[in-house]
Amino acid sequence: MLIIGSDGAFEALPPAMQMLKQGGSALDAVEAAIRIVESQRENHSVGIGGWPNLLGEVELDASIMDGRTRAVGAVGALRGYPHPISVARRVMERLPHVFVVGQGASDFAAEMGFAREEGPTDVAAREWIERIQANVPPEKLPALLQRREMAPWVSLARDPQRVAGTIDVIAIDGQGNIASGVSTSGWAWKYPGRLGDSPIIGAGNYCDNRYGAAACTGFGELAIRGATAHTVVLLMRMGMPLLEACQQALVDLPRPPGAEDESFMNIVAVDRQGNHCGVTNVAAWNKYFYMTPEMDEAMVGHRVFVEERNG
Ligand code: GLY
Repeated sequence: MLIIGSDGAFEALPPAMQMLKQGGSALDAVEAAIRIVESQRENHSVGIGGWPNLLGEVELDASIMDGRTRAVGAVGALRGYPHPISVARRVMERLPHVFVVGQGASDFAAEMGFAREEGPTDVAAREWIERIQANVPPEKLPALLQRREMAPWVSLARDPQRVAGTIDVIAIDGQGNIASGVSTSGWAWKYPGRLGDSPIIGAGNYCDNRYGAAACTGFGELAIRGATAHTVVLLMRMGMPLLEACQQALVDLPRPPGAEDESFMNIVAVDRQGNHCGVTNVAAWNKYFYMTPEMDEAMVGHRVFVEERNG
């Protein structure tokens, strides 16, 4: 048994490990751990505390994958529900689809009986107002708020202080089954409807009992272009050791002209033997967390820094 998570997972791993020790499934542990982080209102990159989009609306993305069956569920740009990971799991279990977005995702959450909660929090709303007031001339505000002219202000979404975040959790249960989940509020001040890698299976999340699992944090646009989580698992399938597979996936990140600044990417991954690792291309983002059944609390894992870039 093993559970690992990206930076931010420290408090979430012990209760999830307890579930695994009591015979819970990897899927249950992943969902439970991510729900804890989604509930932390002071976390501005995940859940209802997340920074809003350009219009001041919180839009949440999440995905979950069952490595035993390779069943998946995902939601994108979900508004009004604080636990996208649970809605994603319900998509996996109740619909013939794998990915539901926008109004459809909110309708489905309502239909499944999830409790509503509107973001943004007061803190996030204040920050959004300040950011808009400081950057958007008053005469341009109506066109922004009426959704007629939003693209000129999307440069605000490159706010360097607010690209980090997202929660990844991967668990291996007592049956040897692997599950992975990812949840995020995405880039602060993003263009409404923007999806990152977190809800996109193969980009921010991938899991296969036969080889292992990988999940990403950082600029989702990069991991979408690189199909990064799937690349890690595919490289393991082709015989590459876990760490090397993660390093190779980071080296391969595609950064076309105009996207040179979208450079941050981190991966956490496990192989089917229960080895785990983290890699990053930002020296300061050097930790992830892991826990095995003997541990009382989550331990810090040190991410391997990968400097090479493919451009
Ligand atoms: N990695 C999360 C996002 O880009 O939305």
